[in-house]
Amino acid sequence: MNWHPIGDVSDIPLRGARCVKTPHGKIAVFRTAENEVFAIDDHCPHGNGPLSQGIVHGKAVTCPLHNWVISLETGKALGADEGEVRTLCIRNEDGKLFIALETMMMAAAE
Ligand code: FES
Repeated sequence: MNWHPIGDVSDIPLRGARCVKTPHGKIAVFRTAENEVFAIDDHCPHGNGPLSQGIVHGKAVTCPLHNWVISLETGKALGADEGEVRTLCIRNEDGKLFIALETMMMAAAE
């Protein structure tokens, strides 16, 4: 697994997110109120809304454009909506964050 450093967890506010640009597209990295981190594509499956600008609640984010709710764990739309975004492996090592680029390349090749 090729772990790529993306900065410190303290760069992301609790219940917030930041957008990370990678060779494989924009990734939204979220930090929940419980200090868990998740990484998913920064494109809402409904209409490409920037999920990193959405509202984080529990382990989900509400898209800022039309309020779809996306699970940060599975990348799937919750409730009656259907669709999903790619999730990425993310690791928190003493406050330093890493995402798995190999996983991304494999997903991109599918
Ligand atoms: S683009 Fe996200 S809900 Fe429409």
